[in-house]
Amino acid sequence: MDVPHYNFGEKGKIPVIGFGTYNLLGQQAVEATKFAISVGYRLIDTASYYENEKEIGIGIKSVEIDRSKLFLTTKIWPSDFSKPENAIETSLKNLDEDYVDLFLIHWPGQHFDLRLKAYKALEKYNQTGQIKYLGVSNFNRQQILEFIDLVDVLPVVNQVHCSPFSYPKELIEFCLANNMLIEGYTPIEKGRRSHAILTKLAQKYNKSEVQIMLRWAIEVGVIPLPKSSNPLRIESNIDIFDFKLTTDEITKISMI
Ligand SMILES: NC(=O)c1ccc[n+]([C@@H]2O[C@H](COP(=O)([O-])OP(=O)(O)OC[C@H]3O[C@@H](n4cnc5c(N)ncnc54)[C@H](OP(=O)(O)O)[C@@H]3O)[C@@H](O)[C@H]2O)c1
Repeated sequence: MDVPHYNFGEKGKIPVIGFGTYNLLGQQAVEATKFAISVGYRLIDTASYYENEKEIGIGIKSVEIDRSKLFLTTKIWPSDFSKPENAIETSLKNLDEDYVDLFLIHWPGQHFDLRLKAYKALEKYNQTGQIKYLGVSNFNRQQILEFIDLVDVLPVVNQVHCSPFSYPKELIEFCLANNMLIEGYTPIEKGRRSHAILTKLAQKYNKSEVQIMLRWAIEVGVIPLPKSSNPLRIESNIDIFDFKLTTDEITKISMI
């Protein structure tokens, strides 16, 4: 089954779920990426900070799939904001890619001027086609508002922590109203959280609590990015398109 997409911008398409890669290193990162693509993930989320861009690039190339079918994301870390071009070139080189689909400012960092300088560098690479879309991560409402006024290419994504246990509803609504999609990181709380509402729904739909959490994210318009190194879990985390939660169930989970 093809993973559904959201449409955004003029002709953009982004899968409704992605594969997180933080803490995947070395050959494990290669194998997990290959496996994730083979079971249907099309969005792969990495970052220079994760020190696995090379392995993600190798994983992508070792699967027989048209590059245009994938949506590859990486990020620039605040300590690189003063020399952003070096960081962007290094990411492209490590990934061994002509372009990435989405480049995010990983964290806002302390200094507004440097943050803007990094974003302006991303805009230059957007002009050349080496970065298709620009976005931010861990930005609050104020930080987004400051940016919207000063940038030429608007960010299309804000990647933030989002799960039933940490649901930044107002920020999400603000971003969606400003044509920004939300990607949710740590969407399954590392598989360490449980709740009676999730347990009950897992029984009802014959799914795991993690699958209920991921389906909920999609139902509230957030793109979850679950990470796993384990093939069974990688596959089960995307096996969430054969059921739907009711409006009442979505509300109950949102209130956890
Ligand atoms: N922008 C940011 O600042 C930021 C911050 C954090 C994360 N992220 C991105 O978001 C992704 C996801 O976040 P995350 O890695 O922090 O947390 P997560 O996806 O919520 O949890 C990953 C952990 O859960 C375990 N797990 C995976 N599937 C499971 C399942 N079905 N049942 C039980 N346990 C399961 C994994 O272990 P196994 O590997 O052993 O399966 C791993 O330890 C990251 O990989 C990264 O791409 C971005």
